[in-house]
Amino acid sequence: MFRKIFIALENFFHPVSVFLNKIVMRIIHPEIGRYIRYIKHNYAHGKKCKIKTAYGRGYKNVVLILDKKYVFKFPFASRDRDFVTRVSTTEKRVVDAFRKISPIYIPKLELINWNGITIRKFEYVSGKQITDFNPNKISQENRQKIAKQLANMIRVILLSDPKELRDLKRNPAEKPSITRGWMHADLATNFLLDDDFNVVAIIDWEDTYWVDVRWGFAKLNKSLDRRRYYGIFMHTMFDYMMEYVQQCDNK
Ligand SMILES: Nc1ncnc2c1ncn2[C@@H]1O[C@H](COP(=O)(O)OP(=O)(O)O)[C@@H](O)[C@H]1O
Ligand SMILES: [Mg+2]
Repeated sequence: MFRKIFIALENFFHPVSVFLNKIVMRIIHPEIGRYIRYIKHNYAHGKKCKIKTAYGRGYKNVVLILDKKYVFKFPFASRDRDFVTRVSTTEKRVVDAFRKISPIYIPKLELINWNGITIRKFEYVSGKQITDFNPNKISQENRQKIAKQLANMIRVILLSDPKELRDLKRNPAEKPSITRGWMHADLATNFLLDDDFNVVAIIDWEDTYWVDVRWGFAKLNKSLDRRRYYGIFMHTMFDYMMEYVQQCDNK
């Protein structure tokens, strides 16, 4: 009974809080208005268009989505421009390298320099994040389906050693192994799904490092469990290891 009232209240107040948040953000960050004008002028050419606003992790960037075509990531004015440029340039290198080999699609990324500000422009991919699904309503079968695809992608990326990224490793000569290599370290909310639970894209490669698999998986576990998507991590881990075990068996 209380739960139902709570959910009804939450549903009622959610749009109100989204609206208020929008107004507050526009007041605190007047640059958002400038960013929107920039997009309208350069990419919508003054024509009628729809721009959706989102705020990424930690409110460091504002993400503006133009007509389901492009996603622009603008840093807030308070951020160190050189740092943003460094991070964006590394992300672009990572995306370009892994786009060629990832079994799951990675949207194209282009960097734009606008008055010394580095803007990231991504190709838009239509899909839902795991957080758009009610955790209690994803069947066991679909959890496994998601996990299989993620595990396969993780393995391909981890065992790869693209030449063009070697200088980003602490030891450029180190070879990847099943326990250490390149990993997208912020996967939990950054894979996009279609309605049949096919993973259609992996986005947001900013946190990609050469790490111990144990660390990467622990992080994935923590963020999925915290959001109550239990099981997806376990299945992913299982699928990841199974392929390896089978390879050992075949040898
Ligand atoms: N290529 C894309 N296609 C569709 N939606 C995207 C794309 N890139 C980002 N988004 C949307 O914008 C949100 C924020 O982008 P993201 O790159 O994850 O930023 P952050 O680093 O702030 O998490 C995502 O959660 C997703 O909803
Ligand atoms: Mg993200």
